[in-house]
Amino acid sequence: MDMIGVVYMSRSARPMQPADLDRLLMDARTHNAEKDVTGVLLYGDSQFFQYFEGHPADVEDVYERIRRSTLHHELVELERRRVPQRFFRKWFMGFRDAPASVIQKLSQEQWKREMPWAQDHSAASPGMQQLMAFLDSASTDEA
Ligand SMILES: Cc1cc2nc3c(=O)[nH]c(=O)nc-3n(C[C@H](O)[C@H](O)[C@H](O)COP(=O)(O)O)c2cc1C
Repeated sequence: MDMIGVVYMSRSARPMQPADLDRLLMDARTHNAEKDVTGVLLYGDSQFFQYFEGHPADVEDVYERIRRSTLHHELVELERRRVPQRFFRKWFMGFRDAPASVIQKLSQEQWKREMPWAQDHSAASPGMQQLMAFLDSASTDEA
């Protein structure tokens, strides 16, 4: 069955303390596990950056929860498209601290939006390749 992936960035409503992030991730992972949605969340200097993927109805369900959250605002969607396979098989929601400069740079990468299925079978957009490169270089604690 088709899978879709969404990338967005947003600003936290207030600076997130480690305990706030723990609570958020616990809630997100519990729900994502139920829906079989996987992905990764970056946070630094009040900036969020998230990628999540799964079957379309499940991704929409999760996206709705994300958009409703009062913990952040100014959500900007960077990529939304069908993906040929999961990029994050292991993580119901991986997490990494990321300096704002990294998130800023990722936001300027080339992402893909609304690519028709037939036109786009490439595994990773340039933005996704940069995200992977950052994750490879970041500490390896398994969120
Ligand atoms: C940056 C961010 C990422 C989130 N990621 C997910 C997610 O991956 N899956 C999910 O079910 N909910 C996700 N949520 C929603 C939260 O788990 C939680 O439902 C929400 O933050 C509660 O918001 P509220 O306190 O305004 O009700 C996310 C929320 C934020 C702010």
